[in-house]
Amino acid sequence: MSKYKIALLDGDGIGPEIMVEAVKVLRLVEQRNDVEFDLIHTPFGASAYFECGDPFPEQTKAVCDEADAILKGPIGLNHEDSKKIPVDKQPERGALLPLRRRYNTYANFRPVFLPQGLAHFSPLKKEIIGDGIDIMIIRELVGGLYFGEKETGVNADGLRYVKETLEYDEEQIRRIAKVAFDTSMKRKKVLHNIHKSNVLKSSVLWNEIMDEVGKDYPEVKVVNILVDAAATYLCLNPGQFDVMVMENMFGDILSDQGGGILGSLGLMPSACLGDDKAYYEPSHGSAPDIAGKNIANPYSMIGSVAMMLEMSFGMDQEAKNVWHAMQSVFAQGFSTPDLSKPGAGVKMIDTQSFGDLVVEELKKLPVVTK
Ligand code: IPM
Ligand code: MG
Repeated sequence: MSKYKIALLDGDGIGPEIMVEAVKVLRLVEQRNDVEFDLIHTPFGASAYFECGDPFPEQTKAVCDEADAILKGPIGLNHEDSKKIPVDKQPERGALLPLRRRYNTYANFRPVFLPQGLAHFSPLKKEIIGDGIDIMIIRELVGGLYFGEKETGVNADGLRYVKETLEYDEEQIRRIAKVAFDTSMKRKKVLHNIHKSNVLKSSVLWNEIMDEVGKDYPEVKVVNILVDAAATYLCLNPGQFDVMVMENMFGDILSDQGGGILGSLGLMPSACLGDDKAYYEPSHGSAPDIAGKNIANPYSMIGSVAMMLEMSFGMDQEAKNVWHAMQSVFAQGFSTPDLSKPGAGVKMIDTQSFGDLVVEELKKLPVVTK
């Protein structure tokens, strides 16, 4: 029997309630398979700051250090409440970026996935969606502007100024390029490299390394495309994309646009992989406006569990089953108020019931042992 220790970082806002549903699925996976999960809840985010004065407390670091994988809920507060926390302790700067840095989780996988059964969620026209949307956005997650040196002050003219640094070395680019090419090899062998080399020198180096790494993957067709154009094409013709790779900030922005063309960021799970540690999280925020109302859809959190099963534990078939179970629930017309308006054809249910139905659907699917 395989045993895995999983750190559960419930996070803020809707985090704890969607985590409960993810845990239900993990417990069922445990029952169905020859696997045991040691699940350890540990504080993280704004809630951790208010509980123990630190958004990424030492005890959480210790649990994560020991864990085989980390499942993390969304973090953050609304604009006003954020001001109650000193800038450097706010959960994005004080917890999330340090988590990424600590475990060097440089490869962020954000599937933009909309099978036909979910097509009604998308704001795009039917003819644009075609057979559905199936893109894997690969975002470099520990470099670039978000991690560069920052400086603020008053310049010689007496004006307040700010300086932030966008820095990548070739090794940082090479390792994410390899991840992208490897992923392309397992999919359609078409890789869109997103850049801005007409302006940014960082993109010039990025593209050079992409060309170099690409020589080892002659089967992969690389399409180089400027980030601003990519934003347009994501709306006009998402079907042209399979794997897209890009630096940190481009990936932050385009992956949210990915959520937009699906119809909601609530449909965006993600995986953040380093060489020694991986963590999994919804790509969306903590949605404080709907927290505690039992109306948030747990798809992104349960989808993150599916990604964990596949990418950390090699349970590929069970991961597919979890995806399938969620699609089946939607296919029967069920939805939650955060995703759908009440109306014809929608069987509106709450967070808990959605999780329960996913569990029921998963029970129906056969377990395939390797
Ligand atoms: C994301 C989020 C984070 C990011 C924030 C919360 C710091 O937007 O994971 O996309 O910008 O990376
Ligand atoms: Mg983001």
